[in-house]
Amino acid sequence: MKEKVLNGLRDGRTISGADLAQEFGVSRNMVWKAVERLRREGYTIGGTPRRGYRLLAVPDLIRPEEIATATGFFGRQVHYSWTIGSTNNVAKKLGMDGAPEGTVVVAERQTAGRGRLGRTWWDGGTGEIREVKEAATPPAGTSLLLSLLLRPSLPPGELVSLTLLAAVAVSRAVERTAGVSLGIKWPNDFLWRERKVAGIISEMVAEAETVAFVVLGIGINVNGRTWPTELVGKATSLLEVCGKKVDRTNLARAVLEEAERAYLAFMREGPAAIREEWLARNVTIGCRVALQTPRERVEGTAVGLGDDGSLLLKLTGGVRAFACGEVTCGREAEPAGEGHREESGERREGNPAGPERQWSRRTTLERSERDPNNTVNGEL
Ligand code: BTN
Repeated sequence: MKEKVLNGLRDGRTISGADLAQEFGVSRNMVWKAVERLRREGYTIGGTPRRGYRLLAVPDLIRPEEIATATGFFGRQVHYSWTIGSTNNVAKKLGMDGAPEGTVVVAERQTAGRGRLGRTWWDGGTGEIREVKEAATPPAGTSLLLSLLLRPSLPPGELVSLTLLAAVAVSRAVERTAGVSLGIKWPNDFLWRERKVAGIISEMVAEAETVAFVVLGIGINVNGRTWPTELVGKATSLLEVCGKKVDRTNLARAVLEEAERAYLAFMREGPAAIREEWLARNVTIGCRVALQTPRERVEGTAVGLGDDGSLLLKLTGGVRAFACGEVTCGREAEPAGEGHREESGERREGNPAGPERQWSRRTTLERSERDPNNTVNGEL
């Protein structure tokens, strides 16, 4: 009934409870109850005694029924919550319970959002200066917090490229929806002028060399404009970058459409399907970087991307490929003497987001743990 009443009011007309009741063949009391529920969910519905109801404003909440209208199988099942611990944890639980490929978990707020390397991920808050603790409806969030369950028929070793695929899909979606080109820092941090706008965590569950499923967890700072002290100067949002609010439902829909398109191309053609685009959008190749792996710390010049998505570093002893590690980007590499970079043809033309020029944050680490059930759970 709630949806019917909402649809009855969507065109902005003023309509009486009696007319709505007649239109839907229900009592006026049922219409009134539906209106009250909508108001509790954040819809502003005006009511004048003799003329009737009028929809004045819709809440800025994600509209889960609208995020998968143009995809084939991504988002056929959407699990939407106002508040959740971590969308990735819920997606993993659903994966264990046999949920189909393409299942999506999306939330307004996260209380235990996870970033890479065991870090926490701040969900962007509500955008309000002061949190309203006792509101009838939790205020809408400001971020896109979305996890996507995939069941690729690939050996675990070939999955690193999936994170690059996700990075390309998110970049395309942000461009389509907000008109902003973000720089990708290897493998999938999204930067605007050295500040982080979004990140992806890719987690795999595998048994005996077979991938059971992968969860891609995507966090995008969309409409936030207040930051905790530790993120001031390090994070920014699409609102701050493009100066206007971005509709998170439209962004989620674009992410799913682009991810499905890139995933199908990837499964058909392999990593080559997204490689060139990732290279064109990245801001790491061509920079001096420091890389901390589980075994060593090296400094060199990022000169390219391996076939499996690994980072190629030119070190004093030659070029080596690194599939995992924490990267910090330094100043841009000196063009002189960087023969491999020129030979590989992977030198970038400047990305508007620009390479990081200061030594800065840690980026990524591949990590995996084997649990007692002989299941490998790990970040890709
Ligand atoms: C990073 O460290 O850059 C990755 C951040 C990924 C955050 C997203 S938000 C939605 C999903 N749920 C989580 O708990 N984490 C990911």
